[in-house]
Amino acid sequence: MTAPAVETKDLVKVFERGRRTIWQRLRREPDRRERFSAVDGIDLRVETGEIFGLLGPNGAGKTTTMKMLATLLIPTSGSIRVLGIDPLERPRDVRARLGAMLSGERSLYWKLTARENLEYFAALYHVSPNQTRARIERALAAVNLSDRADDYVERYSTGMRQRLALARALLPDPPLVILDEPTVGLDPQASRDLRDRVRELRAQGRTVLLTTHYMEEADQLCDRVAIIDHGRIVALDTPAALKRTIRAEEVVHLELGIDGDDRTVLEHLGRMATVARSERTNGTLAVTAHCASARDFVPAAFDAARSAGATIRHVEVVPVTLEDVFLSLTGRALRE
Ligand SMILES: Nc1ncnc2c1ncn2[C@@H]1O[C@H](COP(=O)(O)OP(=O)(O)OP(=O)(O)O)[C@@H](O)[C@H]1O
Ligand SMILES: [Mg+2]
Repeated sequence: MTAPAVETKDLVKVFERGRRTIWQRLRREPDRRERFSAVDGIDLRVETGEIFGLLGPNGAGKTTTMKMLATLLIPTSGSIRVLGIDPLERPRDVRARLGAMLSGERSLYWKLTARENLEYFAALYHVSPNQTRARIERALAAVNLSDRADDYVERYSTGMRQRLALARALLPDPPLVILDEPTVGLDPQASRDLRDRVRELRAQGRTVLLTTHYMEEADQLCDRVAIIDHGRIVALDTPAALKRTIRAEEVVHLELGIDGDDRTVLEHLGRMATVARSERTNGTLAVTAHCASARDFVPAAFDAARSAGATIRHVEVVPVTLEDVFLSLTGRALRE
């Protein structure tokens, strides 16, 4: 049996908040900084050949997890195997088999062409000189940049730069590719294009582990998704199975105008649907309701609002998304 592409057991990374001054250190004052677990016991098993996504809000611990896998951070506790290898014991072997595109290290040399950038990084990554040319051609082809290889990077669009950063990660011809927020900052067209490139990596038999806080991206691209929050996995399954955990067919967003107390109207709505979220700002109440049928719920909601002295200003009916799964698990929206 082959080892899973990535396996972690009870992975933990503890950080300190705030800073400790040099004086505190010299005087050997006790370290009173608050410690917290950015990654708080993550068990992962990514199978060979799948696209696996870590989905979670800002600060959930996604990048920290990726950095530990990529040998850039040492875990506080727990174990990791990358393609069966322990990165603490054999970091070089892990790095040789893993292509990583992490946020904050996407820098390319703008005054060089794409090909020159890749030549530079191939040398840096110890790609053997007799393989360099072929690897660069393949990496460029994999991200659809072959015809622009000799353009200066400073003339590239944001999407092209992102694709070149991906090509750089592919230089070692890695069986495992890890991508931290690969489409962040890209327009919809460039994001779609990058997602297509990622699907091609899977078609070539590679395993892809990526992070995102775009629920649509996790839904469309990933075979399986782990939803993480505060350093823990709160749900893990295929996107379809995760959405089935919401016992509703449809999601209705309502915006109500209301002057007085909103308890009565929420109580009425709660009898007909699951109120996943309600947020009051002055005279406006925003409600997200999960219901079996919007055709039944919406007219009843109008009646409920009227009898509670409120008016419905806006109604939107949408299918269940991973955002709703996150909401029902944590009571919060992904993007807050
Ligand atoms: N080197 C560090 N020292 C102290 N705290 C850190 C360090 N790196 C990250 N953190 C903290 O750990 C937590 C998790 O950060 P992480 O970057 O893993 O989140 P993330 O899920 O990638 O978020 P985002 O979606 O914003 O990229 C955050 O509270 C962050 O401030
Ligand atoms: Mg991050």
